[in-house]
Amino acid sequence: MIVTCGKCKTKYRVNDSSIRQKEFRARCLRCDHAFLVRKPETKSKNTQQNERALSGDPHGTKHLTLAEANCKVIAVCNRKGGVAKTTTCINLAAALSKMKKRVLLVDFDIQANLSLLLGCQNEKSFFDVIHSHDTELSQYIVKTKANFWLLPSNSKMALLSKKHLPKENFEYMLRDKIMTIRSDFDFILIDTPPSGDFYTLNALLASDEAIIPTQCEYLSMSGVSHIVNMIDVIEEKAGHKIDYHVLITLFENDNSVGNVVRSKINKEYEGKIFDTLVYKDRSVQESQIFNQAVVHYREDSDASQQYFELAKEILQIQGKSNIKKVDEEDVISVKYQA
Ligand SMILES: Nc1ncnc2c1ncn2[C@@H]1O[C@H](COP(=O)(O)OP(=O)(O)OP(=O)(O)O)[C@@H](O)[C@H]1O
Ligand SMILES: [Mg+2]
Repeated sequence: MIVTCGKCKTKYRVNDSSIRQKEFRARCLRCDHAFLVRKPETKSKNTQQNERALSGDPHGTKHLTLAEANCKVIAVCNRKGGVAKTTTCINLAAALSKMKKRVLLVDFDIQANLSLLLGCQNEKSFFDVIHSHDTELSQYIVKTKANFWLLPSNSKMALLSKKHLPKENFEYMLRDKIMTIRSDFDFILIDTPPSGDFYTLNALLASDEAIIPTQCEYLSMSGVSHIVNMIDVIEEKAGHKIDYHVLITLFENDNSVGNVVRSKINKEYEGKIFDTLVYKDRSVQESQIFNQAVVHYREDSDASQQYFELAKEILQIQGKSNIKKVDEEDVISVKYQA
């Protein structure tokens, strides 16, 4: 299908078979104008399958739509526990949504802490998406009290790896489902467990970027290097590139060990660390008692301001990578010069 930007009239070719919604939001890569596109009448299943086979893309997942190209999927991971992965997910989602971005949080952790903190602990999870009659991911996404969405986790999530680890392509389960809803959001943030196994691998393979939160202490730092190694292996073996940034969390100025570890992190990951530091702040723990992001609970707190700074930095990084993307093959492939 050909899509024309209403403002600068640039034309784009979009792969019909990868659009699941009747309507989707697109953003022009040339003038940044956002507009609504309506999908033309659906072709028969056979015709679609033939077209996919001819394009060498039998699953219809290779070509990105314009809107999909604009959505960023970010995995938040560190093999070490308690480094503020979940806290970062909630507060980044809250800050980005205050900046008018549509954000989906995916709780891909068997602990289901994210769902608990958002008061959604009795909902269906990704496990139900895979094992129910209706496998449409959008049916399981809930709107939270805050202005963002959540795909919850529940106790059944622990069974996911047991059931699927032996199966071929188990590592693409999450990616394949996320592809179907990417165009509905500006950001999708995936919370992961403190491990480097099935769940983290699925999250990384579904993501364009990774945020690796770490405290300034030795074991958290070694958890960072584990994730960075995984990212390197994924690029080498699966050809999937993930841009990552390290986020220093729970920082305390007057901790001398923390300061030493911080300079080690700065040296080792130069150019890959967020400028924003998230300091230890009691308001974060208070906010969680009230099932709120600190960004909502106490907007003027240090932690809230720091998460807003982080959101701004991410938007800046995203702006830069969108400019670069024009040169990349997958975006060029949907562009049709009139
Ligand atoms: N900036 C902060 N200031 C004070 N406390 C914080 C801050 N960030 C997180 N915490 C607290 O630290 C603890 C761990 O945070 P969180 O659950 O987000 O970590 P996690 O990495 O997701 O843990 P897990 O690996 O178990 O999933 C929580 O009690 C949380 O309230
Ligand atoms: Mg957590």
